[in-house]
Amino acid sequence: MSGDDLPVFHAVSPGAAAIAHLFILVLIVCGIILAIVVGMVGGGLIFFRHKPGSADPPPHFGNRRLEITWTVGPILIVVWLFALTIRGMGNSDPAANQPPDLIVIAHQWWWEVRYPQSGVVTANEIHIPVGKKLLVHLESADVIHDFWVPELARKIDMVPGHPNHVWLEADKPGTYRGECAEFCGAEHARMRFLVIAESPAQFAAWQDEEKNPAAVPATDSARQGLKVFTEMTCVNCHSIRGVSTAASAAPDLTHLAGRETIAADELSNTQTNLLRWLKNPQAVKPGCFMPTLKLTGAQMNNLVNYLEALK
Ligand code: CUA
Repeated sequence: MSGDDLPVFHAVSPGAAAIAHLFILVLIVCGIILAIVVGMVGGGLIFFRHKPGSADPPPHFGNRRLEITWTVGPILIVVWLFALTIRGMGNSDPAANQPPDLIVIAHQWWWEVRYPQSGVVTANEIHIPVGKKLLVHLESADVIHDFWVPELARKIDMVPGHPNHVWLEADKPGTYRGECAEFCGAEHARMRFLVIAESPAQFAAWQDEEKNPAAVPATDSARQGLKVFTEMTCVNCHSIRGVSTAASAAPDLTHLAGRETIAADELSNTQTNLLRWLKNPQAVKPGCFMPTLKLTGAQMNNLVNYLEALK
């Protein structure tokens, strides 16, 4: 994971750099003003202290030059910062009039990710080719969420019934953490995702793999697991291409095993963690809409064996 410490300082795209530079500049200007004010107050406290036996100093009234300075100076600074802000906003959020490369739909509390050109559907992990500016169309399936990858792009609200867009671009390969930046209910804090920026060749290979329908189970246990999936309610919310694509209330699981994490970046994607999640989702994400399944231990293991083979 890159730049987990203060990611706003680690801009990896021109849009994020515009925001980071503006932020750093405003921080420096405000720091200088703070230093001047603290310096003058501190200097006054030290050098103009009342000394025992001395008389009160004579009062001063009015100083035109000083008053003009402290009126015009701050106005110029504010106008200058305003102009820089307008420029930063333009650079971080250019206008868009083209079909989107990506569609991201926020749900309580996960992210549906669709690639309209290739038909790929995935969740919580957005693969992008490095160095390419992608237009992301943003929607919400329920309440207001906010899409934010601090290293790559500006924040942008996802409002039900009011689609938005944002440009997503990474200049360097890497895995960048994204999160929901608008309080959206119990699991808001655990509504995270990853943006995985890779070389155009790696991205194309990933996309080709994702286009395939789900792997056919190869072991007895996995075959039993598929039965559990289709017969024990999972299929009512989750889609697996090649099995059933009727549902979109929960993440598409067609290539679940190819993901780094499960439960919206909450757990690393291992057999143990998947079992833990399936056995008691509320212990992992309290308040989440994943039901606690009434499955036997054997059914649980078969389901995990099936899902973890969906590369
Ligand atoms: Cu979605 Cu906060």
